This record gives sequence, C-alpha cells and structure tokens, in this order.
Amino acid sequence: MIKFITFEGGEGSGKTTIIDNLLKDLSALGFDVVKTREPGGSKIAEEIRHVILNKENTAMDYRAEALLYAASRRQHLQEVIVPSLKANKLVLCDRYLDSSLAYQGYARGLGIDQVYQINQYATEGLLPDLTFYIDVDPQIGLSRIQSAHRTVDRLDLETANFHKLVRNGYLEVAKMFPQRIITIDGKRPILEIYEEIKNIILEKMNAVTKEAK
Ligand code: TYD
Repeated sequence: MIKFITFEGGEGSGKTTIIDNLLKDLSALGFDVVKTREPGGSKIAEEIRHVILNKENTAMDYRAEALLYAASRRQHLQEVIVPSLKANKLVLCDRYLDSSLAYQGYARGLGIDQVYQINQYATEGLLPDLTFYIDVDPQIGLSRIQSAHRTVDRLDLETANFHKLVRNGYLEVAKMFPQRIITIDGKRPILEIYEEIKNIILEKMNAVTKEAK
C-alpha cells in the first residue's frame, strides 16, 4: 500500500504546483491527504529551517548543515509524518532524504553514503513508498523562476554550477533506488507532468477513478 510519497527536484521543477494539485484532486477522490514539506513542516523543524536557510549564516559548515537537515527531518517525522501514517493518511512531502543525498551528499561533496548513514539514524530507516524526481535542466528551471534577469553575474554562475551538481546527484540517487524513485521528464508543460504523476499514483494505489464518462 502506498502511503508516503515524496517529491524531489531542483529549482523551478514545479514540485509545489504538482503537490498542490494532487492535494486537491486526491482529496476530491476521497483520499485523506496530508501535504507537508522539508526542511520544516512543524514548529521546531521550521526553527531549524530558519537557521539553515538564514542568509547571514555564511559560516555554516557543510557537515553541520547536513546534520541540521537531518535533525529537522527527525523532528518533522516524529511530529507529522509518523502520526499521519499511523492514522492511515496519504502523506505528500515536498523533499525528504533524497534532497540531503543530492545536495549535501553529492553537490557539497560529503558523500552520498555518509549522508545516507546520518539519515538512517535520523529516520530509523523510514523510507518513502514512492518518490518522484522531477528532472529538469537547471538552466530551464532557473529561467522559469528568474525570467527577469538580464545579465548573469558571478554568483548566478556559481549557482548554476551548483544546480548542475545537484541534478547529477539526483540522477545518481535515482540509480541507487530504482524501485522507489521514478524519474519524471520535467521539461514538459506542468499540467502534462501533473497528469502523468497523478495517473502513476492512482495506478499504484489500485484506485478505480470514476472518470469514465
Ligand atoms: P525551499 O525554499 O523549501 O526550496 P524549494 O522550494 O526548492 O523546495 O528551500 C529548501 C532548500 O534546502 C532547497 O534549496 C533545497 C535545500 N535542501 C537541502 O539542501 N537538503 C535537504 O535535505 C533539504 C530537505 C533541502
């Protein structure tokens, strides 16, 4: 039974829109759906998120960063995900441990295996039943969200390079978990991607849609 679904991808991959639409449509089909996100999703986890994403924390060490993401994940898991799963709800989570594997493990260079291990401790091995990785060229993703930018400065270039690494990280992680992670071609129109994802979920849940006219 599919109960815990996560969504992964780089900037501008359309995750948020897709999750919002799923919440609406799956709820209308009668599923009891919980939408949540990482880092954050509960009060303490949101406080940790604030520390991690605070632009003033330029001195943040990469390992400290990975541990903070794992701590935020643990808290969110205990407060939101596990109780929701116990109550038989369908949990849709925007990012989960694969983000740490791709961003901290691969792109920051800490090593996917090492970051997996600290997350193993944080989650006690609780993996999603299903993960959608929405794969999009970071140039397309970034242009979707910064279409007003005229010139590319040094920071933009660094960011673009980092996001290329993140994408390679995700592709690597998807290869490691072929049963769990479904890679979706994210360069198509968002509604087309959404329909594909929704159909996969419904198929996997063996749900009979009553859309036959
Ligand atoms: P957020 O604004 O939630 O990004 P998005 O809308 O793209 O999901 O910021 C979360 C940032 O944190 C995002 O850049 C990805 C990063 N991140 C990690 O590096 N590791 C992690 O484990 C998680 C959950 C997120």
